[in-house]
This record gives sequence, C-alpha cells and structure tokens, in this order.
Amino acid sequence: MSDYQKYPHGDTSWFQRDRFGMFIHWGLYSMPARHEWIRNREGILDEDYQVYFDLFDPDMFDPKEWAASAKKAGMKYFVITAIHHEGFCLWDSKYTDYKATNTPAGRDLLREVIDAFRAEGLKVGIYYSLIDWHHEDFTLDPLHPMVKHGGLSEDDICEINSKRDMAKYRQYMYDQITELLTGYGKIDILWFDFSYPQIENGKGREDWGSEKIIEIIRKLQPWVIIDNRLDLPGASDIVTPEQYTPRRGMTDDEGNPVVWEGCQTFSGSWGYYRDEMSWKTPELCIQMLINHVSRGGNMLMNVGPTSRGYFDARAELRLEEFGRWMKYHSRSIYNCTCAPEEFEAPQDCRYTYNPETGRLYLHIFTWQHKKVVLPGVGDKVRYIQLLNDGSECTFMLKDGSAGTHMFEKGNPGDIEVLLPDLKPDVAVPVLEIILRKEGEKSSGKKENNQFV
Ligand code: GLC
Repeated sequence: MSDYQKYPHGDTSWFQRDRFGMFIHWGLYSMPARHEWIRNREGILDEDYQVYFDLFDPDMFDPKEWAASAKKAGMKYFVITAIHHEGFCLWDSKYTDYKATNTPAGRDLLREVIDAFRAEGLKVGIYYSLIDWHHEDFTLDPLHPMVKHGGLSEDDICEINSKRDMAKYRQYMYDQITELLTGYGKIDILWFDFSYPQIENGKGREDWGSEKIIEIIRKLQPWVIIDNRLDLPGASDIVTPEQYTPRRGMTDDEGNPVVWEGCQTFSGSWGYYRDEMSWKTPELCIQMLINHVSRGGNMLMNVGPTSRGYFDARAELRLEEFGRWMKYHSRSIYNCTCAPEEFEAPQDCRYTYNPETGRLYLHIFTWQHKKVVLPGVGDKVRYIQLLNDGSECTFMLKDGSAGTHMFEKGNPGDIEVLLPDLKPDVAVPVLEIILRKEGEKSSGKKENNQFV
C-alpha cells in the first residue's frame, strides 16, 4: 500500500475544474507594510509588536468588495490566512485573546469574509499557520523572532524552551482547527503552512501532531482539500509549488500525475508591502495562469489587503486585467488541463484542453506574422476560431508539396492557421480549435488551395 492509499482524501474534482483562486494574506503585518515575515526579518519581540495589535483598525474593510473583485477576476475559490506566523487570529477564537475581536476592529473578520465570498459563489479555503511566534508554548527555533532578535545564548534558548510545552501548543491547534471546521459552515480547503524539519532544530510532523490534525479534519469535514505542508507523506491532496511555475505537470515519485496548485504573488511578498516595486505586469500574471493550466495545475493568486482593509490600486488593476481577459477567455481555463501529448504547441504558445468538449486552446504569447503552424494536427481539426470574438480563422492542411513564393513548404500533417495582421485587442489571444469527431468534415483548405 502506498502512503497515499493509507489516508482518506478530500474532494479535488471541483478544484481541478475551477483552476483559479485568490489567496488573501491579511494580518497585523499589513500595518508595518514591509513583509508578513517582519517579526522574523527584524527580530521583533512581542512587546514591540503590540502596537500593531493595539491600533489595528481596518475602517475601510468591506469584504463584499473583495469578493466582488475576486469574482470579477474570474476566481472561483479563495484561501484566507485565518492566522499567519505572527499568531494573530482574524476570527473570534475561544482559545486565545490574540484576535481581531480584541483590537479596534472589534469583530470576527474571518466570518465576514467567508460570508461575503460564499455569497458570490466562491468556494472557501482557510490558511492555518503551523508556526506561531506569539504562542507561549511554541518553542524557540532558528526562525523564531526572539532568536532573530539576538542576545540569547544556546543555554538561554534551552532554558526558555524548557518552560514551553509543544504538547499544549498542539492541543491549541487541534482546538482551533475544530473551531474553524465547526463554526464556519462548509470548508473546502485547509491550507497549512509550513514544516521545516530539514533545518537544524526545525519542526515537522511530530511537532504539529500532523496525524492527529488529519484525523480531526477527516472526521469533521471529510471532503476538505488539504495541502502538502504538514510533513506527512501521502496525507495531502494537493502539491503547492510557491513563487515558481513548474515547467511541466507535477508527478509523484513514481511519475504519476498529482493535483497541484501554484501559489503566486503580484509583487513578491504575501502581506501588503507598501514600498515593493517588483509588481509583475498584468500580462505576465495572465500568462502565469495560462502556464499553470497548460501544465495541468491551478493558480492561487495572492492579494495582501492594506491595514485599512482595502485592496490597493496596484492589486485592483491586476485583478481587473484578469477579469477583462477572463470575460472572453474563461473557456480556455475552466474545466481545462494540459493537452494530450500528441499536440505539441508551437513556439511562444501554450495549449490547454477541455477533455469533455474535446476542444483545444492555443494561447499565443507573442503575436506572429500572418500565420501560426500547428504541427501534426492536420486531419484532426474541424474548425478554428479566435476565442475573444468567435471569428473564424481559416487554415490550410499541408501535404508536404513544394512551396511557392507565397507559401512555405510544410510537413504533411501540419496546418497553417491564418492570423489577422493586427493582434486582437486582448492580453493573450487564444485560438479555439474544435477537433473533429468521427464523420465530421474539416473546414480546412487543402494545400495550394490558397487563402483568399
Ligand atoms: C511561505 C511563507 C508565507 C506565505 C506562504 C504562502 O511559506 O512562510 O509567508 O504565507 O508561503 O505560500
């Protein structure tokens, strides 16, 4: 029996159809606005971080606006940080005072977000940080802000840790996970972050009690999709590459395809970072989504709301551009995956494929002059159109005969698709290629039956 078979698994069927989700990183770190790891990066002690807790007041928070932006961008699900490494809870947890209800925000922000996104029809995901730099029983390790702060000897660290009890911390997590799975309706994804057993004195499955966490979830909401950061081989439902796009579909050690989701940022950090200047262009963001789906994966695109509670203009712009593109092209994303191997995408292009309709989608990243040649698809194609406006693109079946001064010699089985000189006014144009079913005729012209 493989590790995977040892565990019950969640429902990834909807997930593989929906393809596109919104990640939301929101916490006290949105106030200093210089990375959600600020406590670690700057070695900030609890007492110095307290000012953010005391003053956290998102007066412009309107989760309905967030949900509307996500929906308009074409996103079908979302995952929000209920708690990040700083240990601050967006919900009204019974098990801590370090929560939104005790700040000037004064209410359960998580509930409002979940309600708003659910009302827009998006599926609900909760990010839960395994790391907690605020909890008094969470032992010091090399990532801990108290260690980063400096001034502690090995002996001091041992002494502090001897008074901390990870068993109590585990219980705290079990209680909170139970709370989240019993108080907020149907949860579709639980996103744990993260294990680091590979670094000296790091933490992994024994520290978290990962087996027990899985048990709790499967008892309460067996369908939940669980990510792969609990350090428990076989127990997870999805693989989660971060800040990079895999070059091809992801597989397990035996080479079998796995369900995967790349999580990506607009600018590098996850929490709101005022001065970050490394924002990806909207076009690149759209290409990233296409790359994920063309390799059989999902993309979870992150937004870090400001401390006043709104999405800043740079994020909004990118979401709007996603929406503008998705309005006309979602057919090449939803329900789609990588194309069957026989279809090899031409240079600077990406295929996606809808296995139910048998339609193939060619995403053209760099607009080409006059034509694009699709190798080896010849007699399989019935009809081709631009997806943005449903206008026909005529094509010629190549038979390998000699070229003319106007027509290039091609390989038999290639087709040449005629493109308009002007790139359609969309970020990434897409050809919808309708494959022939048995008995259907192709609309393609034969070689030398020149384009008019
Ligand atoms: C990381 C970081 C983090 C972020 C997460 C998202 O592991 O610790 O800040 O929440 O990735 O994938």
